[in-house]
Amino acid sequence: MKRKVIFIIVVGLFVAFTAKLTAQQVHDISVDAGSPLFEIQPVMWGVFFEDINFAADGGVYGELVKNRSFEFTHPMTGWEQVRQNAIGRVVPTFYSPANHNNPHYVVVHADAAKGAFGISNQGFRGMGIRKDNLYNLSVNARISSGSGIRMKAELISSDGTVIGTSEILDLTRDWKKHEATMTSSATDPSAKLQLLFMGLGSVDLDMVSLFPADTWKGRPGGLRKDLVQMIADLKPGFLRFPGGCIVEGRNLENRYQWKLTTGPVEERKLITNRWNSEMRNRPAPDYFQSFGLGFYEYFLMAEDMGAEPLPILNCGMSCQFNAGEVVPLNELQPYIQDALDLIEFANGPVTSKWGALRASMGHPESFNLRYLGVGNEQWEQQYIERYRLFEKEIRLKYPEIKIVSGSGPYASGAYFDLAWTELRKLDPALIDEHYYMAPEWFLNNAGRYDNYDRSGIKVFAGEYAAHGKEGPAPESRNTWLSALTEAAFMTGLERNADVVHMASYAPLLAHVDAWQWRPDLIWFDNLNVIGTPNYYVQKLFSTHRGTHVIPALKDGDPLTGQDSLYVSAVTDKASSMIYVKIVNVSGETKQLRLNFSGASLQKDAEMETLKARGLYDYNSIANPKNIYPFTRPVTVSGKKLQLGIEASSVNVLKLSVRK
Ligand code: AHR
Repeated sequence: MKRKVIFIIVVGLFVAFTAKLTAQQVHDISVDAGSPLFEIQPVMWGVFFEDINFAADGGVYGELVKNRSFEFTHPMTGWEQVRQNAIGRVVPTFYSPANHNNPHYVVVHADAAKGAFGISNQGFRGMGIRKDNLYNLSVNARISSGSGIRMKAELISSDGTVIGTSEILDLTRDWKKHEATMTSSATDPSAKLQLLFMGLGSVDLDMVSLFPADTWKGRPGGLRKDLVQMIADLKPGFLRFPGGCIVEGRNLENRYQWKLTTGPVEERKLITNRWNSEMRNRPAPDYFQSFGLGFYEYFLMAEDMGAEPLPILNCGMSCQFNAGEVVPLNELQPYIQDALDLIEFANGPVTSKWGALRASMGHPESFNLRYLGVGNEQWEQQYIERYRLFEKEIRLKYPEIKIVSGSGPYASGAYFDLAWTELRKLDPALIDEHYYMAPEWFLNNAGRYDNYDRSGIKVFAGEYAAHGKEGPAPESRNTWLSALTEAAFMTGLERNADVVHMASYAPLLAHVDAWQWRPDLIWFDNLNVIGTPNYYVQKLFSTHRGTHVIPALKDGDPLTGQDSLYVSAVTDKASSMIYVKIVNVSGETKQLRLNFSGASLQKDAEMETLKARGLYDYNSIANPKNIYPFTRPVTVSGKKLQLGIEASSVNVLKLSVRK
């Protein structure tokens, strides 16, 4: 017993002693608000949108019907026959001369003097339907034989209950767009749409479409509100679209062609989404691009969010990880013309050919396009040779456009070095760098840009994410560890904002039941959307962007991992705020004493913190706020502030400058 008491006392003393030692390790950091080092671009923190993981069709694009125009490789994908005490046949048919881009339709032969026969659509892994919400249905239809046939639309819940209904009685012998509305009596993440026919005869059907009435900005046929809001909440400086590898295509035929994504939606020609079969372990044979979310809609989305549009165009090369097709240099002109025409589409007067198209779609005003990317993730001389030709012609006609070039898929190595060497001889405004690396890489690279040429081409950190441990749950790769290490790295991007002008995490969105790639910034299902810890890290930086970088130094050096601490500081001239980002990647609390100069500070300040219980914790649809920022007040004493920075935490200290 006596020995036990002595042991407890010794352990107690040891704990007290080490706690005291830890408390004594105070890091003195000087923050000089009076010496702004350089400006931070308003576009610094943006978003990378690619139609991967069902981000567009089945995601942001509000359409609930999958394969609405029967153009998938198998025209009945997503559709099933429905027999209600009646029989019939459904015949996919080719070719509707009325629409060359969308030639398929189906003929429904109904033998339903009693009962009903029809088809149902399963949506994108089900349809997310909400109680008391209004849904807009539209169907192109004509009676091809028989008469007196009636059509009824129904929303069916996953247990087979009718939760919404509407009748279309005026079917005619000519093609006509029929519209109806339905209000749902229940919420269901996996509902179906059913079109039923009563009577004897045949009806031709095309473009069967169902949208929630409540879309982003209330636009008919618009975007899913909760998803766009989640992106908009980041206050992104730019919106990069449409990718990603989707720009390149698996082969050239499969490349993204912006012109095919404009004009009336029913005339936009659908293509296979390249992520349909890209990932052998995650096949998605029902993944196509309807282009309902096309270039016009991307520009609108950027404008709505106050983000600069940053379209990326194919440079005459398909994905080098796939077919690697390359357009001969003497046949590249149509590709370059696409780029010139896109600038006219975005900015040209309504009297110009492409400006007139923009106006006809509802936006006579310019979209003020200032950035344009040429090529996504290309490498070797093949890219440089093609990039050079694009640059020459864009410069000649539109010298004001900032051209974004690329350094390939890797963060270093031969392709990367060759791209930088060759592009330095040319005149891009920015070079896009990609890094999908282990969490440790992000910790070790917080100083990556410290030695970049300050007067050279600027960097667009266009795709990055820490790729680490993963578990069976889709969201499980978005661990706290990945977010924490990205935050540490991002202090380096911010500290070097004179070199790094733009940055975006990638990819942006993923459907939990239909993903191909992870981790991703935002996960969603048919009714819910959640921010990952990585999302909240991005948000902490992008919503506390500031206007100028200011020095935050320990013993004259920036903190790039010394004693597991990463620090960067900015001032916001417009709001007279100072934001200090402090990342502690160690497993213990660190004591910091911040010594401010160059500004007198208000006593009352705040600190917003993001942390988790464990490094492998993550947010999920079931537990969306497992890792979520919280704010606490802190008090500045004169020009000093002593803070305990919690273990494994990301923090933004917010200080008001006295005017
Ligand atoms: O973000 C996912 C993919 O990663 C992008 O499509 C591509 O550019 C990169 O390889």
